Amino acid sequence: MPDSKTEILGGDVKSLEHAASMLRAGQLVAFPSETVYGLGADACNDTAVASIFAAKQRPSFNPLIVHVATLEMAKCIAEFSEDAETLARRFWPGPLTLVLPLRDHTGISPLVSAGLSSIAIRIPAHPVARELLAVFDGPVAGPSANPSGKLSPTQVEHVLEGLAGKIAAVIDAGPCAVGLESTIVGFQPQPVLLRPGGVPIEDVADCLNKPVARSQPTSDTPNAPGQLASHYAPNAALRLNATQPRDDEVMLGFGNTPCALNLSESGDLIEASANLFHHLRKLDSGNARCIAVSPIPDHGLGLAINDRLRRAAAPRP
Ligand code: TXA
Ligand code: MG
Repeated sequence: MPDSKTEILGGDVKSLEHAASMLRAGQLVAFPSETVYGLGADACNDTAVASIFAAKQRPSFNPLIVHVATLEMAKCIAEFSEDAETLARRFWPGPLTLVLPLRDHTGISPLVSAGLSSIAIRIPAHPVARELLAVFDGPVAGPSANPSGKLSPTQVEHVLEGLAGKIAAVIDAGPCAVGLESTIVGFQPQPVLLRPGGVPIEDVADCLNKPVARSQPTSDTPNAPGQLASHYAPNAALRLNATQPRDDEVMLGFGNTPCALNLSESGDLIEASANLFHHLRKLDSGNARCIAVSPIPDHGLGLAINDRLRRAAAPRP
C-alpha cells in the first residue's frame, strides 16, 4: 500500500482495467457506487482486506460488505432462501445488502465476515462499479471509503479528505445519486431490517408481502459500525428536530424553512438523502459549535436519514 500518492482515475474502460489490476495486486481502490463511495479490496486476499481495516482504522470485529457483479456469483458465495432470492431479483442491482449464510470454500477472507458464518452481499447499481466488478471478475470487499466513525463519502473530494495517501487509487465518477448507504436485511429466518438505507423498508415488506422486523441488538449480534450508537459523526454537535437555530448554531433545514443549507426545499426525501452527508460536511467545515436540524418525516428514506442523524447526534465514545 502506498504511503504518499493516491491516483485519481476516471471511469473509462482503460482506467477500470488499471484499477482491477491494482485490486489483483492487493491494493486498495475507492470506487463510486450509487449509495456512497466504497473502499474496495480483493475479498479473497487476507492482506488486502486487512489493509482496509488499517486505512479506515476500523475495529477488525466489524464485518464488511462484499460487492459482486452477478446473482450467479452471489449464489456461489452465499445461500439464498426463497425470500432472499425474491429480494435480489427485485432490488439488484441496487442499494440493498442481504446478510445470508456463507457457503464453505468460497475463498473469501474470513476477515471480511469477521469470522461470522454469515456474509453481507450486494450488487451495486452504479455503472462504473458494475464495470469494475465485471473487469475484476471476483468479489470486492468494500466498506464506505471514510475513516471509521466519520461521515460517509458521496464525492471523490470526501474520499481524499479522509484517505489520501492511505489508498492506491480512487475512481472519480462524480456525486453518488442515493447518498445514503444500502439498506441491510438479514433473515432469522424471517426478514429483519439490520440498517435502514437506500431502499425504503416499506418497499422490502411490499415485495415479500410480509412485515420486516427491526433488529434487536443482542450480545451475540456483530458489533458493526452501522449499529453503534455514535457513528457517521461530524466534528460539530447535532441538535435534532429543531425549528430554528440558537445563537451558536447553524441550521440544516428540510422543507420551507430559513436555514444555512437545505436538504430539500420541496420536502423531497430522495433529494434530502442525496444531500445529507455533503451538507453535513459543509456545515461542519465552518466553525459552528452545533448543527441544528429540522425534523425529517420518519418514513421511506426518511427512516434512514433519521437513523444517520441520530447516530451523528449521539454522545461520542
Ligand atoms: O451502501 C453501502 O452499503 C456501502 C457501499 C460502499 O456499498 N457500504 C457500506 O459498508 O456501508 P460499511 O462497511 O460501512 O457497512 C457495512 C455494514 C456494517 O455496519 C454491518 O452492519 C453490516 O454491514 N454487516 C456486514 N456483515 C454483516 C454480517 N455478517 N452480519 C450482520 N451485519 C453485517
Ligand atoms: Mg460506513
